[in-house]
Amino acid sequence: MNQHPSELRKLRDNPELVSSAVSEIIRYQTPIAHMRRNAATDIVVGGKQIRKGDKVVMWYISGNRDEEVIESADRFLIDRKNVRQHLSFGFGIHRCLGRHLAELQLKILWEEVLNARLEVEVVGEPDRIASNFVHGYSALPVQIRA
Ligand code: HEM
Repeated sequence: MNQHPSELRKLRDNPELVSSAVSEIIRYQTPIAHMRRNAATDIVVGGKQIRKGDKVVMWYISGNRDEEVIESADRFLIDRKNVRQHLSFGFGIHRCLGRHLAELQLKILWEEVLNARLEVEVVGEPDRIASNFVHGYSALPVQIRA
């Protein structure tokens, strides 16, 4: 939100966008970058031959920026249409079991930030987790003002 002040303004002007903003945050960040599957059968996907037993990496972080599915995918827009149509929670039978809890936690966090009129300013670079799996931060210095 610090990097996208116009989106924060939209949210402050219209707090009903909070659920939509949470989905966009989760899409844009893509906290889990990928998962892997073992192919159960021979199949062609996107013109590529995959053989039974092949290990296939599904880059959610790439799918979430697919311009063929998501308009202006590189932009952070909290009021985009089809905002929940992202891959951050995976897809299919193993889709994240905790997704509703994760969304609820972020929704409550943002509701409280908005209700208490807190200004959260990022004042330094994040410490990134050194991983190609978890796309996250271990620390982010901020100043919080009421
Ligand atoms: C923003 C937060 C979260 C993200 C981005 C996330 C992402 C994911 C992803 C990508 C998968 C793999 C889906 C697949 O293999 O197709 C997954 C699976 C799973 N997640 Fe989450 N998750 C989050 C929060 C949570 C929370 C809070 C819980 C539990 C309270 C949870 C529990 C699980 C479980 C149990 C699975 C395994 C489901 C299965 O294999 O059938 N997740 N999650």
